[in-house]
Amino acid sequence: MRNGLFAASVFVTADLTPTKTMTVRRVLDFGRRKCRGLKHRYNAWQEKRFDRQFGITTAGIEYDLAALGATGQHLAQAEAYEPIQLPVFKTIMDSVTIDPRNYAFIDFGAGKGRALVLAAEQGFRHVIGIEFASSLYQMAARNIAAYRSRKGRAPPMDLFCADAVHFRIPDEDAMLFFYNPFNDEVLSEVCRNMEIAYRSRPRSLVIAYRNPRHSAVFDSLDFLTRDVLNETFAIYHTGAR
Ligand SMILES: C[S@@+](CC[C@H](N)C(=O)[O-])C[C@H]1O[C@@H](n2cnc3c(N)ncnc32)[C@H](O)[C@@H]1O
Repeated sequence: MRNGLFAASVFVTADLTPTKTMTVRRVLDFGRRKCRGLKHRYNAWQEKRFDRQFGITTAGIEYDLAALGATGQHLAQAEAYEPIQLPVFKTIMDSVTIDPRNYAFIDFGAGKGRALVLAAEQGFRHVIGIEFASSLYQMAARNIAAYRSRKGRAPPMDLFCADAVHFRIPDEDAMLFFYNPFNDEVLSEVCRNMEIAYRSRPRSLVIAYRNPRHSAVFDSLDFLTRDVLNETFAIYHTGAR
């Protein structure tokens, strides 16, 4: 949309006087802002509907993780809570070629558990979340309980209140999900654990990294192959490059 309006502005203003050009640009800017506003409102509506559908509460951004019970040496390296956007989760799932029924889903920094519910809906055979802010962990636990009470059939869902660096990756094929939870230092520690787990029992691991600010950490690991890297997310899988 943005590029379309930019192209339109270049085309429309090509033969105009400077004053008329300014007017056309203002009208187009207004249109752009309106489109962004509408998209934002539509996404917010979709998210409310999703929460209502499962009797859960996952919306909203939480900046103050200390006030939500996060403590320890990695608090300063943590990113705020923001739930995964529904269309982005769908795009990520459309970009991987795995059958979720054969994979566990592990969310490092699970927040209020939105990605866990989405993963369960997607058909993953086992869903795991790790969250270090105790209040967020409790909200995720309530959300999972509410979700499970509404669903006749749901996969096993395990939630841990812990720092992600202390989580031992289970011996099963898994999709590891990161929505930019922490900085490169903490991510490197988690990746060291991942490498130890993988080398002790090679298996299929797929990494989905939303808002991939520190993708260089994954790029540096020679047991991973990168499939996708764009501004929105990155995907990697274990195996030869
Ligand atoms: C951007 S939110 C992602 C929420 C969730 N994954 C989702 O997609 O809806 C990042 C989460 O990571 C958590 N986090 C940050 N550092 C962590 C750490 N070292 N261990 C566990 N959780 C952490 C934050 O508390 C926050 O809830």
